Amino acid sequence: MERVFFFSFVSLVSLLAVPVVSETQPVVGLPLFTNSRWIVDEGGQRVKLACLNWVSHLEAVVAEGLSKQPMDVISKKISSMGFNCVRLTWPLFLATNDSLASLTVRQSFQSLGLLESIAGVQANNPSIIDLPLIKAYQAVVTSLGSNNVMVILDNHMSNTTWCCSNFDGNGFFGDRYFNPDLWIKGLTRMATLFNGVTNVVGMSLRNELRGPKQNVNDWYRYMQRGAEAVHSANPDVIVILSGLNFDKDLSFLRNNPVNLTFSGKLVYEIHWYGFSDGNSWETGNPNQVCGRVVDNMMRLSGFLLGQGWPLFVSEFGVDQRGTNVNDNRYLNCFLATAAELDLDWALWTLVGSYYYREGVSGMNEYYGVLNWNWCETRNSSFLQRIAALQSPFQGPGIAKVLPYKVIFHPLTGLCVRRKSLLEPLRLGLGPCSEPEAWTYTSHKILTVRGTYLCLQADEVGQPARLGIICSDSNSKWEMISDSKLHISSTTSNGSIVCLDVDSHNTIVTNTCKCLSRDNKCDPASQWFKIVDSTRSLDTPKSHVKIKSILGLPGSGSQSELSLYMKQ
Ligand SMILES: *[C@@H]1O[C@H](CO)[C@@H](O)[C@H](O)[C@H]1NC(C)=O
Ligand SMILES: *[C@@H]1O[C@H](CO)[C@@H](O)[C@H](O)[C@H]1NC(C)=O
Ligand SMILES: *[C@@H]1O[C@H](CO)[C@@H](O)[C@H](O)[C@H]1NC(C)=O
Ligand SMILES: *[C@@H]1O[C@H](CO)[C@@H](O)[C@H](O)[C@H]1NC(C)=O
Ligand SMILES: *[C@@H]1O[C@H](CO)[C@@H](O)[C@H](O)[C@H]1NC(C)=O
Repeated sequence: MERVFFFSFVSLVSLLAVPVVSETQPVVGLPLFTNSRWIVDEGGQRVKLACLNWVSHLEAVVAEGLSKQPMDVISKKISSMGFNCVRLTWPLFLATNDSLASLTVRQSFQSLGLLESIAGVQANNPSIIDLPLIKAYQAVVTSLGSNNVMVILDNHMSNTTWCCSNFDGNGFFGDRYFNPDLWIKGLTRMATLFNGVTNVVGMSLRNELRGPKQNVNDWYRYMQRGAEAVHSANPDVIVILSGLNFDKDLSFLRNNPVNLTFSGKLVYEIHWYGFSDGNSWETGNPNQVCGRVVDNMMRLSGFLLGQGWPLFVSEFGVDQRGTNVNDNRYLNCFLATAAELDLDWALWTLVGSYYYREGVSGMNEYYGVLNWNWCETRNSSFLQRIAALQSPFQGPGIAKVLPYKVIFHPLTGLCVRRKSLLEPLRLGLGPCSEPEAWTYTSHKILTVRGTYLCLQADEVGQPARLGIICSDSNSKWEMISDSKLHISSTTSNGSIVCLDVDSHNTIVTNTCKCLSRDNKCDPASQWFKIVDSTRSLDTPKSHVKIKSILGLPGSGSQSELSLYMKQ
């Protein structure tokens, strides 16, 4: 897998000291800029944000987890799980209330009666226990930087408490605890404090605007002021603006873009969860709900990509126990969309458990990638499912090869590819870093790029296969249902079938599942997304073997396979 790295001072020094740097790890030059809908580095190459939300705005005002693991261990873990950035939350009052900012970590826990947390921090992060809260926050940013993790500072709330409700006084400019002038002051202070800190690449100006006071006029008025304030205090950060209605609605921008004195630094953010649509996923037919929810997202915010603005899904996530049907169904649709649009994103959340949240100490976070004690990952199959989205499919500087298509399967996070040496004309699933490269023709034929092999339906319940006679109806594939996530064809005897995956991860064709109406059935095993890619293609190991077979004189498959290769 390609990983994105950048020059921190530390990595620059180590680079100078050790002249050998792995060629598979391109170096990102900071600061970041935007180029149309893409976020790019100094050299103009795309940097895809694959972030984790790390909570640091709750009552204790200490980044969560520091009583469980040394911060350096957490930073390394973030990077080893394939993430390149953290959206680190902060409460406004940390930046505007000096007596809060100067409380020590110990005093802050003491005032909440969190004695176990004190002991935990003492054991795991002794260097911060008597630091003022603001210094402890800076220490976390530094630790992330020395591990090549970028940081986006997110003003999550004014108060030091869990977000969000319509009536918590933190929802919109003019609310009880959301004074716009104080907010500008706080943004300016944070932007100034981190000016020159290379790994701080962006600032999210305010999380989830909401509540009865929200209105478009004040949105423009204050967001433009906030953006200018941040930019003049720290021109190196990208400025990230969130939408109305819990960061779901940026539709007002369609005909009225913001006016700023600077360019090449503006990004929009949205939040998109299963519960953003109530329990529709559970009560409706997943194809119909996915179709409707994605249309809605495109109308409210996704259109910005077409207008040339980056769109950062700064919060998405699910209960990783896999027991929430609403979340499970949503996730398949979300992953398909995020792959197709090649979005920048931040998963909610890194946090395995909280010191104290909503009146509970030691609360477990089932949406967290780490487990309660911050030692292990909560669910490795979840991480596998998002791995394909951690590196860019497309964008400036990603054009390593001519454009091709991958067929992504959100339920597994894997991509369709030829199976193995023994079954070279059968298809299975493998990591999207080693996918099959497809062409989807105007005649709706899916061919393996560079060959005459096309995808064919055989019979219901049988493996799909590759063949060379591509003119029959069983070689025509269409995306059907409201979700457009079923890839469907007609067998030679006239049965309509959909691609599916069997228990051996073989691609088969089955009767299409619950295309509409039925809300009991989950069609996700049949959901695939055809995604544009120009990612460099590592040759899958099975293909290397096929190639070596091609070189063996007298091999039966030699003549057979070489027939299929285009010159
Ligand atoms: C500032 O923070 C301190 C410490 O938490 C708190 O006691 C005080 O009420 C805060 N001041 C304001 C104006 O909110
Ligand atoms: C929010 O902060 C203000 C100012 O410090 C404080 O008076 C108020 O009690 C806080 N509200 C909540 C819900 O924490
Ligand atoms: C931006 O400037 C243009 C031209 O001056 C103006 O028509 C438009 O209303 C402004 N938009 C906002 C959101 O202020
Ligand atoms: C991980 O997620 C999968 C899929 O949602 C689920 O089936 C499995 O039980 C989860 N594992 C754990 C350890 O929670
Ligand atoms: C096509 O063949 C399959 C498998 O032999 C069979 O189940 C199905 O009923 C046939 N369909 C038609 C339309 O004849």
